[in-house]
Amino acid sequence: MNTHWRNGGYTVPHSDTYPWQWLWDSCFHALVWAELGFPDRATAELASALSDQDALGFVPHVRYVGNPDHLSDFWGRPATSSITQPPMYGHAVAELVRRGVDVPDVTLRKAELGLRFLLDRRARTEDGLVTVVHPWETGCDDSPRWDHWCQPAWDTGRWYDVKGELLDGVERAPSGAPLANPAFGAGSVGFSALVAWNAAELASVTGDRALATAGLAVARAVDARWDAGLRTWVDAGPSAATSGRARTLDALLGALLPGEHAVEALEQTVDDGAFGGRFGPPAVHRLDPTYEPGTYWRGSAWPQLTYLLWCAARRAGLDAVAKGLAGRLVAGAAASGLAEHWHPDTGAPLGAVPQSWTGLALLVE
Ligand code: GLC
Repeated sequence: MNTHWRNGGYTVPHSDTYPWQWLWDSCFHALVWAELGFPDRATAELASALSDQDALGFVPHVRYVGNPDHLSDFWGRPATSSITQPPMYGHAVAELVRRGVDVPDVTLRKAELGLRFLLDRRARTEDGLVTVVHPWETGCDDSPRWDHWCQPAWDTGRWYDVKGELLDGVERAPSGAPLANPAFGAGSVGFSALVAWNAAELASVTGDRALATAGLAVARAVDARWDAGLRTWVDAGPSAATSGRARTLDALLGALLPGEHAVEALEQTVDDGAFGGRFGPPAVHRLDPTYEPGTYWRGSAWPQLTYLLWCAARRAGLDAVAKGLAGRLVAGAAASGLAEHWHPDTGAPLGAVPQSWTGLALLVE
């Protein structure tokens, strides 16, 4: 974490592979810094992650600190990306407050504005979920959930091109804030669940009842999309009958919310015939046709998802599941050398090594 710390007040995910600031990574880093006993770094990291928020509340997902021209043609603006990522700042702020860290008022206000942007400006009237304008916004870049948009068939090269093309369809407010994308239009239950949970988390420490109510409405919309046969929540929108039904781990994040299916979702994360894995749950159900444990987002184990499901299991009072997930996260972090993600059965490292968010393993021990 010290090697990855930058003077601008944030931690890079990895010095070479990810040399900038990423939004949801930084929210997780803030928790790791707090756990390590550096609350000032935790609050500084949250403040920098939120520092390019616009007046509507939109928070860009990457900040190219010190290199404003980097990819500026691609994003159509200097210094930052022009899409967002899961608003993990709600949970990060709440967790810091619960630990007794003095979180500045301005950070609380920015976190609330960021969640209001998603709840109000991104609300889907047709199903009550939250709109995602680009697959990268979910943080789960190559998840089989998005295969609907990669015709005729998914492959890495084709998907890379499609991700570029999808960006062209984003509709924006005059400030540049991304509002919708008719070319994508996914009603992601995973992303919506994270919005709802982060709203609940923030409201639990600020007492903001309007935010809590808005989050609960999204939670209900997510829960209504449970498919009893598939034992997963199913996306709305264009992929509702196709790849939005893939059994991916991010689709089970609805388990963070109050709802009647949380237990059934969480029990699958430690079941060897479903998402069980010695080093943590794979990103895709073992029996799903898209399961490829060595491939980016298509079956490897991701520490931040395991951490979130551990939070969900504790919330639901499923102590054995929480203990199982905690042990697997720690085992995977150790076996992989703190990798970005790893093979769920062997712990063999995948992606960047070491990756800052894998410090989340410290929180579950
Ligand atoms: C990859 C991941 C994304 C993460 C970023 C930086 O793009 O898919 O979730 O934020 O790396 O770690």
